[in-house]
Amino acid sequence: MADWVDACDAAELGDGDVIGVAPKGIGLALYRVDGTIYATEDRCSHGLASLSEGMLDGCNIECPLHFGTFDVRTGEATAAPCSVAIKTFKAEERDGRIFVEL
Ligand code: FES
Repeated sequence: MADWVDACDAAELGDGDVIGVAPKGIGLALYRVDGTIYATEDRCSHGLASLSEGMLDGCNIECPLHFGTFDVRTGEATAAPCSVAIKTFKAEERDGRIFVEL
């Protein structure tokens, strides 16, 4: 059954930022776009790279290794060489903390 878990202090994630967190040992990338928080797995589907070390441009996260991109809202791959979607998670801010449904 899915559980909402406390991922981090909301102040750690500024608007237009991406950070890596690991609640329950699960590597996630958190994004804030125009005030809305999104969460995806932190692993690129193309190779061994952390998306939290990539560049966020609007709703697109660019992988730091080969520069493929994903839409953080849906997990869909949006630029080559990425073609396989990444997993997304529900995320929200409550009382100054960011919670993710795992
Ligand atoms: S590992 Fe991410 S684009 Fe290749």
